[in-house]
Amino acid sequence: MSCTGKKLFTPGPLCCSTEVKAAMMQDLGSRDKDFIDCVKEIRTSLLEIAKVSEDEYTAVPLQGSGSYCVESVLQTTSPRKGARVLVLANGAYGNRMVKMCKYAAIETRHETYAEDVPIPVDEVRRLLEKDAAWTTVAIVHCETSSGVINPVEEVGRLVHRYCAGTVFFVDAMSSFGAVPLDLTAAKIDYLVSSANKCLEGVPGFSYAICRKKHLLSCKANCRVMSLDLVEQHLSLESNGQFRFTPPTHTFLAFRTAIREYRKEGGLEGRAARYRENQRLLLDGMARLGYRRLVHPQHASYIITAFLNPTHANFDFKIFYTKLTEKGKVIYPGKVTHADCFRVGNIGHLFPADMIELLRCVEEVMQEMGLPVPLE
Ligand SMILES: Cc1ncc(COP(=O)(O)O)c(C=O)c1O
Repeated sequence: MSCTGKKLFTPGPLCCSTEVKAAMMQDLGSRDKDFIDCVKEIRTSLLEIAKVSEDEYTAVPLQGSGSYCVESVLQTTSPRKGARVLVLANGAYGNRMVKMCKYAAIETRHETYAEDVPIPVDEVRRLLEKDAAWTTVAIVHCETSSGVINPVEEVGRLVHRYCAGTVFFVDAMSSFGAVPLDLTAAKIDYLVSSANKCLEGVPGFSYAICRKKHLLSCKANCRVMSLDLVEQHLSLESNGQFRFTPPTHTFLAFRTAIREYRKEGGLEGRAARYRENQRLLLDGMARLGYRRLVHPQHASYIITAFLNPTHANFDFKIFYTKLTEKGKVIYPGKVTHADCFRVGNIGHLFPADMIELLRCVEEVMQEMGLPVPLE
């Protein structure tokens, strides 16, 4: 069954199936056995999807959007004294991690790189050769602000080689479950994503996949009680319950979302649909004369940044509003040095949705007096 309402071609919130939304039509108490079983099933499934063992890793869900879990990992893995966090950033979500550390007065090095290409591995190597004394090194897998995919596995191996005992933290918010990432090969200690991304649940919680032994060594680090990932883990392990009111309906929806994910063929099936969605989008947008910000070699199949047309009649606000009126929601750009907008192709979207979007884009261009194709 397809989604109803507007079609969301964004980095999130994203469309979900009718079945996923229907799964929420049930009230459960937080201590209800059905709910506790549901959370347990989800935690186990997340480890299976990540292809890691329950002996080594734990999946810890946390109430709130993706940023909550990112902040939770940064705080929980940073001792109150002596923490030094290195953030490798080539976009808005890397930059946000630095802001989170600053809020918590955690010493941070903000290493910035060009936003339209992957983080250069050689530069990271040179940096780590000079200074390896980091408590955490953090990186974003798919920088959703541009659509660039970062070389997480290579960077992870460098961190492992140069920085003994350093936590390697990956924000895989918009890629987990749809873009392959070998946690073991990449030596990942913590990985974060959220319910309403490639696994296509509804928004409401995020989760961290954590190296269990390390997590248990982080007691009393977190400066904010509600974000303490150790306490969250211990509570779920001891009685299967959350410390504070859990988003019960969101969990019920997510259980259905994971079942749908498996039915589609897991990562391979989902990636195939997203790739096909993007292929149609790219072909169609190229036909209409749009150019991409990121070279195809560096781009994900999650979201695409298109350069704003230079034609005098183009105004993003009008373009966006007219598309929204036709039920198609796209997203503004989020890179610093280029005027662009973004179109996502993840969530419960199918090739027919991409074709319909392209038809609407062409219609809006005509309404705005833009040449088709652009000159
Ligand atoms: C890579 C990445 N990190 C962090 C976030 C923040 O997540 P949220 O907006 O759910 O807090 C996003 C959101 O799209 C993201 O794409």
